[in-house]
Amino acid sequence: MSENVENAIVNVQGLYKEVASLNPQNVSPLVILHELDFTIQSGETIAIVGPSGSGKSTLLGLIAGLDTPSRGKVILDGENLTAFNEDERAQVRAEKLGFVFQSFQLLTSFTALENVMLPLEIVDRKNARELALSVLGRVGLSERLSHYPNQLSGGEQQRVAIARAFAPEPKLLLADEPTGNLDTATGQRIIDLLFDLNQEKGTTLVLVTHDHGLAERCDRVLQLEAGRLVHADAREHQTESQIKKQKERHAAGTAN
Ligand SMILES: Nc1ncnc2c1ncn2[C@@H]1O[C@H](COP(=O)(O)OP(=O)(O)OP(=O)(O)O)[C@@H](O)[C@H]1O
Ligand SMILES: [Mg+2]
Repeated sequence: MSENVENAIVNVQGLYKEVASLNPQNVSPLVILHELDFTIQSGETIAIVGPSGSGKSTLLGLIAGLDTPSRGKVILDGENLTAFNEDERAQVRAEKLGFVFQSFQLLTSFTALENVMLPLEIVDRKNARELALSVLGRVGLSERLSHYPNQLSGGEQQRVAIARAFAPEPKLLLADEPTGNLDTATGQRIIDLLFDLNQEKGTTLVLVTHDHGLAERCDRVLQLEAGRLVHADAREHQTESQIKKQKERHAAGTAN
């Protein structure tokens, strides 16, 4: 394979996921992901697209070590997640990645501010409160700091979830339909924020999305169909942003 695994933030090898069939008439397992192989380089922006049920959220959960594969492995920033136990995977997550769940998964007994402060406190960030206030400002929620999740609209909860994921400035940000609950203008603002993070901090973005405009802004698109990657390495499909970035890397002497 010509891909540069050394500079990879995510390397997926033969990733296969099956679950027991819930249909009593069918004893064979249900295959959710069929032996996927791909690499994501540090600093890339990737869109994962595909129809409902094609395995996008399952794949994102496996990359984050929230779930374990039936076979194959996920190497995250050089660490073989598949060889780790749950606590070790949680440790890697806390250090390296932010995750925006499709269903937000905010802590219901914590306010918006406390939800965003929590991951900062876990990694002992000194100015957790100031940082959390700042990112909540950036997602337009300065007036909702003391609201509990059930006192927030769906779109507001989504923005708290995004703020929580990017506040610790992770190397890798995984987001499951990050604009699914937002109106066009707010969605655009959030997308700009994510891409600013990529530009300013080199954060790798992996975004599951049904939004063609968002997918088009990414360097590459991974397309899933019924658990198979049908459009894995779209180099022939390079976007202007990808070409520009490659030129910049080349100019900086880090091209490979
Ligand atoms: N724990 C599970 N047990 C049984 N089936 C599951 C389980 N988790 C996921 N599935 C099935 O796996 C398939 C892929 O689910 P997944 O949530 O990854 O899809 P998705 O591409 O994210 O879809 P959407 O766009 O609707 O969010 C679905 O058909 C789902 O029913
Ligand atoms: Mg999903």
